[in-house]
Amino acid sequence: MHRVTLTAPDDFDGWRAAARRLVVAGVDPADVLWSLPDESDDLFGAMAGDDDLPPERGSAEFSVPRAFVDLAQSAILHRAPERFSLLYALLCRVRARPGTMEDRADPLLGRIEALAKTVRRDIHKIRAFVRFRAVEDPQGTRFVAWFEPDHHIVRANAGFFARRFATMRWSILTPEISIHWDGDTLQEGPGATRGEAGPDEDPVEGLWRGYYAAIFNPARLKTRAMMSEMPKKYWRNLPEASLIPELVAGAQAREAAMIATAPASPRRANPPPSQAKDSGAAWRALRDAAKDCIRCPLHRDATQMVFGEGPVDAPLMFVGEQPGDQEDLAGRPFVGPAGQLFDDALAQAGIDRSHAYVTNAVKHFKFQWRGKHRLHQGPNAGEIEACRWWLDRERAIVRPRLIVALGASAGRAILGRAVTIARVRGQAITMEDGSQLWVTVHPSYLLRLPDAGRRAEEQTRFVEDLRLVGSML
Ligand code: URA
Repeated sequence: MHRVTLTAPDDFDGWRAAARRLVVAGVDPADVLWSLPDESDDLFGAMAGDDDLPPERGSAEFSVPRAFVDLAQSAILHRAPERFSLLYALLCRVRARPGTMEDRADPLLGRIEALAKTVRRDIHKIRAFVRFRAVEDPQGTRFVAWFEPDHHIVRANAGFFARRFATMRWSILTPEISIHWDGDTLQEGPGATRGEAGPDEDPVEGLWRGYYAAIFNPARLKTRAMMSEMPKKYWRNLPEASLIPELVAGAQAREAAMIATAPASPRRANPPPSQAKDSGAAWRALRDAAKDCIRCPLHRDATQMVFGEGPVDAPLMFVGEQPGDQEDLAGRPFVGPAGQLFDDALAQAGIDRSHAYVTNAVKHFKFQWRGKHRLHQGPNAGEIEACRWWLDRERAIVRPRLIVALGASAGRAILGRAVTIARVRGQAITMEDGSQLWVTVHPSYLLRLPDAGRRAEEQTRFVEDLRLVGSML
């Protein structure tokens, strides 16, 4: 019997190193005992690294399909104690029969795929349901979240959160492990308790609840689907979830009222008035919630949050980069010099701005003081990502048929990746929700061009882009 003690429940590298040596030596899966250092049923009091492995055979040639590695990396995060031995048995099978990974009828493969699927679902939950609270510590604001995963997925997802909330200082606390990000490095700590995640009631939570209540649509309520998407165990940590029982209970009555007041006409391009009214309430709740946004540090220096404006059922949405100096003071998008150029170009293209929804990728002004002046600074990828949360919800409410991204930051916010304007300009990109995205330059780019001739040329091109979009309406 060979005993292998891994360093942690998600120790894929340790498992792989041991499995490689065992499989090369031809050790039968029944002759391997896999364990973790603190397993109380380990009669031998095993320690990590205290293994009983066959000698390493450096020259042994050995490779496995990529599909096996991907599957093993997910399945190993499952809580089932037998996952290590199942994976080792599958590894032996793959080695003996290279087509195993394609054999849909293989029961062992099926069992391990089921483990991996459960893990992927748990990963979806942590990514969707983590809610941060702002907590003050000696270095400033830290965002702290409490989460109780079903499987050992926290360490494997730390990189995801570091990329998504790159510019914030945050901690995710769970019963088994805590992960901390200081804007530069990730650190691990021991497990924690819910109480350590901050006070029970946070002012931001009231805003969440207001927003959720406003967007809750009784006609779309599918209790079973909702319970499977957001199982009850997560409700405790979601501020908005305290509303669910009440909203579900009142849903039937509200649905009946909605049906009674809805016009009898079929679905049409412009939403019926009741739908626009609902969208109006959801939009106002969203805007009010955004006023207190602290999702990234930009709220600290800006005068105010500048939300989008325009009809909530506009077929056309313009997305800029971020408010400038004048927008920050006025609280409205595109009212400064770039806004004037934008208005002129719209007029030349025959587009009425009052029929479009105009917003920005980032809702707070980012600047640097130069003497008495506030000099615009472009938002970084983390700030765009943090603010994308609001833009996505604006898009979900307005549901424009056409979206125009003004500049690369807007393109990034909508597509979720960096875009090169020259590559995508002049062509429609079809989005997942069926809307079309058009990317063009930002009006400020035109203002900055030093050569008057070149500026005139580029302005003409900009107007042509807008005219093309207008012709699609
Ligand atoms: N630039 C933008 O991107 N948005 C504004 O609102 C103003 C200037």
